[in-house]
Amino acid sequence: MKERKMLYAGSFDPVTYGHLDIIRRGARLCDTLVVGVLRNYSKAALFSVEERMGLLREATADVGNVVVDSFEGLLANYVKQNGICVVIRGLRATWDFDYEIQMAQMNARLYGNEVETVFLMTDPQHSFVSSSIVKEVFSLNGEIDGLVPPRVIAAMEAKRAAQQREQVRE
Ligand code: COA
Repeated sequence: MKERKMLYAGSFDPVTYGHLDIIRRGARLCDTLVVGVLRNYSKAALFSVEERMGLLREATADVGNVVVDSFEGLLANYVKQNGICVVIRGLRATWDFDYEIQMAQMNARLYGNEVETVFLMTDPQHSFVSSSIVKEVFSLNGEIDGLVPPRVIAAMEAKRAAQQREQVRE
C-alpha cells in the first residue's frame, strides 16, 4: 500500500508546545509526518533554518514517524514533488480561519484534487501562543516556561547572551 505522507509546514521560529501538539496528533494520522520549515527571506528570524530544524528534531525525537525538512518557494510545489497527500494546519481560533481558508483554497487550486488540507483544532491551552509572542515576552524578560520546550529556552538564552556580547563589542 502507498505510504501516507502528510506535511505540517511553518516558520517554527521557534517551535512552541502549540506546534508540538499539532505534530504529535498529526503523526498519529499518517505513516510519515514531514515537518517543513519554510526558508522565508521576507520574515526576519531569530533562529537560522538549520537551528530551527535542529530544535524541531530534538523536540520530536520520541515520535517515530516525524521527518524534519526545509523548503522554499511554493508549498504546493513541495507537496507535489514529495508525494504528500495531506497538508495539516492548526486552527487556534476563529481569527485563524479567514487566512487559512484563503490559503487552503489557493493551495487546492495549485496542487489539484489529490491533496487535501486538514485542520486540527489547537488544544485551548495553546490557543494564545505564537512564536512571535513567545519571542516578545522573552525579550522583555517575561516567563516563557510551559510555552516552549526547555531546550528552546536554552537556545534563546544563548542567542540573547551572544547578542549582548556583540553589543558590548560595538
Ligand atoms: N500553536 C501555536 N502557535 C501556532 C500554531 C499552533 N497550533 N499554529 C500557528 N501558530 C503560530 C506560528 O508560530 C506563527 O507565529 P509567528 O507568526 O509569530 O511566527 C503564526 O501562528 C502563524 O503560523 P502559520 O500560519 O503557520 O505561519 P508560518 O509563517 O509559520 O507558516 C506557511 C505559513 C509556511 C504554511 C505559508 O506561509 C506557506 O505555505 N508559505 C509558502 C509560500 C506559499 O506557498 N504561498 C502561497 C500560499 S497559498
